[in-house]
Amino acid sequence: MNTFHEINTPLRTIMTPGPVEVDPRVLRAMSTPILGQFDPAFTQMMNETMEMLRRVFQTKNKWAFPIDGTSRAGIEAVLCSVLEQGDRVLIPIYGRFGHLLTEIAERNGADIHIMECEWGEVFDQEEIISEIKRVKPKVVAIVHGETSTGCIQPLDKIGPACRELDVLCIVDAVATIGGTEVKVDEWQLDAVIGGTQKCLSVPSGMAPITYNERIEQIITVRKKVEKGIATEHDFLDVKQQPIRSNYFDLSQLQDYWGPRRLNHHTEATSMLYALREGIRIVLQEGLKERFERHRLHEKALVEGIKAMGLELFNDVPWKLPMVTCINIPVGIDGDSVRTMLLQQFGIEIASSFGPLHGKIWRIGSMGYSCRKENILFVLAALEAVLIRHGASLQVGKGLQAALTVYEVSHLVVK
Ligand SMILES: Cc1ncc(COP(=O)(O)O)c(C=O)c1O
Repeated sequence: MNTFHEINTPLRTIMTPGPVEVDPRVLRAMSTPILGQFDPAFTQMMNETMEMLRRVFQTKNKWAFPIDGTSRAGIEAVLCSVLEQGDRVLIPIYGRFGHLLTEIAERNGADIHIMECEWGEVFDQEEIISEIKRVKPKVVAIVHGETSTGCIQPLDKIGPACRELDVLCIVDAVATIGGTEVKVDEWQLDAVIGGTQKCLSVPSGMAPITYNERIEQIITVRKKVEKGIATEHDFLDVKQQPIRSNYFDLSQLQDYWGPRRLNHHTEATSMLYALREGIRIVLQEGLKERFERHRLHEKALVEGIKAMGLELFNDVPWKLPMVTCINIPVGIDGDSVRTMLLQQFGIEIASSFGPLHGKIWRIGSMGYSCRKENILFVLAALEAVLIRHGASLQVGKGLQAALTVYEVSHLVVK
């Protein structure tokens, strides 16, 4: 007898830095019937997705397509396709995901040089540029938006400096794509990895990437087509240090996403439907309008938090607009507050990692989760739960401050 019930998930308000709530339009797109991956109706969708991704990344790059797998799959694909044994890589680390870049580059045999700053800080761009001149790496790999600390690293000077010094600049924009400016061409970034489950409001399971011809050249030199599908011409061309991963080999993926349509993996069709619909929503809203929306809801949340009498972890100009970190008040059990928020209100907020574990809460306001009703709900619930935990607060002030932000805004609030 089958005792397993049909899935019946509780309704949640997800206010973490990812995964976040998925737009219902995306969920509907995911139930579209499956097509074969070489069906012209599907390959047309692949081409459209590439075109829409170029717009989201603000680039004219030929290559903009998703890697199947979570965001780190995109990071692995770029790093393992570019890095050869012994290549020097400079990684400025200001939170957990800088360590992830290091971990992946290390596993690919790179000669790693790191710079570290305290969690909650970011780097002065000139400091990184000086280090690039000193270390002379092949690659600088850096996170744009650190979800672990709620900080955003400016890149507009680092990209051009890398170009001038003939260094490749590879950027983790997993948290920022679709939520704030990621100007791939203007900032002269060579490869950029985005995430689906954050500001794009698509489930986790694909990582959109883009890269330019500087990266393509390296990949092409290392190209090796797998035997079962290679032609004689491909065999003539075997290279010294082929890309070690088959799954993440960008040279083969280019042949799959490009006009050759060479078979590689079996496409995650439903995820592509989801991504296509997710970025269609982004472009329909408009990039500028979407970034303004994220800023507005961030302001309402921040004003509400402060008026309530709580303290921001990083009330600084480099605060990441879509992640708000709050110092857990002394004497309050942070995990107990999160549990009560979930159990009593169905709201999920996040804790943090490493040196910040147990010290801050992180509230995400990303993509479809970044809505007025969610911001007001999380403020109201947090106040109620904190009162229950004996915290001393400015009772009633938080929601009023947030409502005022909305009232005086010129934006039409959703
Ligand atoms: C900035 C950043 N980079 C990379 C990742 C890794 O993404 P994933 O867990 O989807 O592999 C995350 C996930 O939260 C992230 O926030």
